[in-house]
Amino acid sequence: MSARQITIIANWKANLPPSDEVDLARRIAEGLRSEGRHTVDPSRLRVLLAPSTLGLVPVASLIRREFPTSGLQIAAQDVSAGGPGAFTGESPADHLVAIASAVIVGHSERRRDHHESAEVVGRKLARVARAGLAPVLCLGDDLPNAETEVRVSLVQSQCAQALDAAAQHGCAPRELLAAGLAIAYEPIWAIGTGRPASLAIGEAIARGLRASTGMVDLAVLYGGSVEAAAAASWLGTSAGRTEIDGLLVGGASLEEGHFLAIVRAAARAAGGA
Ligand code: PGA
Repeated sequence: MSARQITIIANWKANLPPSDEVDLARRIAEGLRSEGRHTVDPSRLRVLLAPSTLGLVPVASLIRREFPTSGLQIAAQDVSAGGPGAFTGESPADHLVAIASAVIVGHSERRRDHHESAEVVGRKLARVARAGLAPVLCLGDDLPNAETEVRVSLVQSQCAQALDAAAQHGCAPRELLAAGLAIAYEPIWAIGTGRPASLAIGEAIARGLRASTGMVDLAVLYGGSVEAAAAASWLGTSAGRTEIDGLLVGGASLEEGHFLAIVRAAARAAGGA
């Protein structure tokens, strides 16, 4: 378990205009530099910033130009299901390659607001992996009071549907894994509500997904009202890691102090501090 890499992703959603995203990225990068955090082995801990679509290029340029040794990587919050071509308003995976290293796919806000089906999510997964980007597949139940087993089987079937759809679009599960697939378990009732899931639920989901996919080293992150004070309990310590391999952080990533505290907890769990 403890050999698995920890991944921390700041999902800024559409909260800030691009100029504020650049300022926030700068404050985070400066914070990491002043803490000497860039010395953490990137094979053990990776930290990604996911700006809005409009902020992707300016934030990526800032990191590349001014903080090339920060280790900070860029993730896109979404991607087109189709390829390059005459598709007004789209952002194909092939074009994200020069900007990002990972892409969040199937976030529940996309599924809810844009009616993204498992089929669309699968097409996006295939596009992302084929472009050589790492897909971060979001799954989550909308059952705040369900028994854990019910929750686990629902998320397992969501996962199977997305992986099957990706396979139908020519991308087998092993190709997704080779591209760096991670799952983010994000229960809908926990997102932005201040009511995170318990570690026990997160770990049951992580075990359930590794069992149902047969991917024993599948990275499973947790997202939903993650606060800095709880980051260490989600991840454990280098002497005793939990089954959760990272955090997808929304609200708490919008303030550099909170986000840097989460990265500190992750670095401790990764054995780098
Ligand atoms: P939250 O969002 O941390 O604000 O709950 C998490 C997410 O939706 O990725």
